[in-house]
Amino acid sequence: MGLLDSIDLNKLPKHVAIIMDGNGRWAKERGEDRVYGHHEGVVSVREIVNASAEIGIKYLTLYAFSAENWNRPKEEVDALMELLVNTIRKETDELDKNNVRLSIIGDFASLPLICQKELNEAMDLTAKNTGLNLILALSYSSRREIADAARKIALDVVAGKLQPGDINENSFKNYLYTSAFPDPELMIRTSGEYRISNYLLYQLAYAELYFTNKHWPDFRKNDLIDALLNYQQRERRFGKTSEQIQKNTPQHV
Ligand code: FPP
Repeated sequence: MGLLDSIDLNKLPKHVAIIMDGNGRWAKERGEDRVYGHHEGVVSVREIVNASAEIGIKYLTLYAFSAENWNRPKEEVDALMELLVNTIRKETDELDKNNVRLSIIGDFASLPLICQKELNEAMDLTAKNTGLNLILALSYSSRREIADAARKIALDVVAGKLQPGDINENSFKNYLYTSAFPDPELMIRTSGEYRISNYLLYQLAYAELYFTNKHWPDFRKNDLIDALLNYQQRERRFGKTSEQIQKNTPQHV
């Protein structure tokens, strides 16, 4: 029996979010430039996207570039944008063939025009696909997303489309970039850092957090399976007691 067979397909998280950390350190450990690590990181991206689709995960969100990443040296930012364009250009047909639908969250307008063009074409091409939803967080800041949501709500209130009394946890969600997606049940961060780093702060409220020391370029299919197996051993209580959960509710629904 392979590792894959040990996964309980009835207890899969619908949505897995990943902070792909450690490309730079992975490269430095090999005496290479940081950009080499990002290139190897793309190999992991490809493998994890394919494995997620194969396992039956419905939503996969990857933190590919944070709003704060614009502050990195210009050569690294340029290399990452070029890598993004080339990767999208090269992989879109394969994504489409595998029934993957691509979406973006973040400050799309801040991306170079060539990135916007490639991403728009890839999103259009894959828009009808019904398999894995691959969501790339690009130029993404969760605090900005929440502030944007507050601004959009204020505008709707001023326009008379929304009553202040109707603003609650659920209606708030409709104003986030992720309004079309369920909240992640599992968040994975590689490279031994124990931080959320301005990622999906509202959406991760009840997510199980999984940290591994592996750097992103070393994180492959079996590591994803390990994370899923670990997730399946957790008891998700949502504030209730263990006894209540075991008596009343099947887990992981
Ligand atoms: C974090 O490692 C990684 C990034 C900031 C970029 C992630 C990008 C990729 C994996 C490649 C492009 C992605 C797609 C979807 C085509 P780091 O540079 O912060 O590593 P460090 O913490 O060791 O310095």
